[in-house]
Amino acid sequence: MGLLDGKVAIVTGAGGGIGRAEALALAREGAKVVVNDVGGARDGVGAGDAAANEVAAEIRALGGEAVACFDSVATKEGAERIVAAAVASFGRVDVLVNNAGILRDKTLLKTTEAMWDAVIAVHLKGTFLCTQAAAAQMLAQGEGGRIVNTTSVSGMLGNFGQANYSAAKAGIYGLTRTTAIELQKHRITVNAIAPIAKTRMTEDLPMFQGVDTLTPEHIAPAALFLASPLCEDRTGFVLAVSGARMYAFKVIETRGKFKDGDAPWTAAEIGESWDAIVK
Ligand code: NAI
Repeated sequence: MGLLDGKVAIVTGAGGGIGRAEALALAREGAKVVVNDVGGARDGVGAGDAAANEVAAEIRALGGEAVACFDSVATKEGAERIVAAAVASFGRVDVLVNNAGILRDKTLLKTTEAMWDAVIAVHLKGTFLCTQAAAAQMLAQGEGGRIVNTTSVSGMLGNFGQANYSAAKAGIYGLTRTTAIELQKHRITVNAIAPIAKTRMTEDLPMFQGVDTLTPEHIAPAALFLASPLCEDRTGFVLAVSGARMYAFKVIETRGKFKDGDAPWTAAEIGESWDAIVK
């Protein structure tokens, strides 16, 4: 018995890195998997069938069921074709893992409009479009579903040189929270993971040099948990994984301070009460 026997899962950007490990983990637990990937370079340039085909073949070699799909998550037609591929091949969609991503890193002042648009399109718009298409199918099926998004430490905390990427990943956090609220009544859970792993996206960063303990295989169980019945009705969470460390990101609201009376605060008073307001 697998955790996902009889279930159909879509994993976007599953032709390598974290998405590949997630697709394999879901398939090992019995899911039939749509392996989606445009097969481009790290910056999103180019396209090809090989990456998605190879991972789908890997799953079939393990005795699982998988189809490859090469559409881009960043267009409405592409997102709809990804969901249609699941329905055409396996009859339904139970799980969507929004994982596809690209990088165009530059500091704010050097970020061009094209660099901004490309990163927002794949991460934020792609997550929106795939979620919308998959949620519509899940609603039609009437049996709930599981959506797993991919945010980032960069989105939750900020990171030097990633204005576009951190904005996209923070947007995915907001999208996760709102879709979790909206889809709860349909028994569709929506959670996010914030991974840290050595992949082609990160392998040149100093923190990964000589490190073999931060792998995509460390991330995949978090996606599997959130995609499986073990997740129960937990929704709207950000589960963070870095090697053997499993933790969570939360936005907190401070207790704050009430001013005596109903008059608006003055700017000077805000400065004087800063610690009481923010701590
Ligand atoms: P990766 O580059 O190995 O995987 C991303 C995959 O997405 C690639 O195979 C790429 O071809 C695919 N892709 C890109 N644009 C696409 C599109 N328009 N439609 C469909 N597929 C597309 O990188 P990695 O590290 O595995 O990243 C996976 C996800 O994890 C990304 O969302 C990334 O932002 C996120 N992430 C990764 C971290 C890490 O430490 N590796 C840290 C935080 C977040």
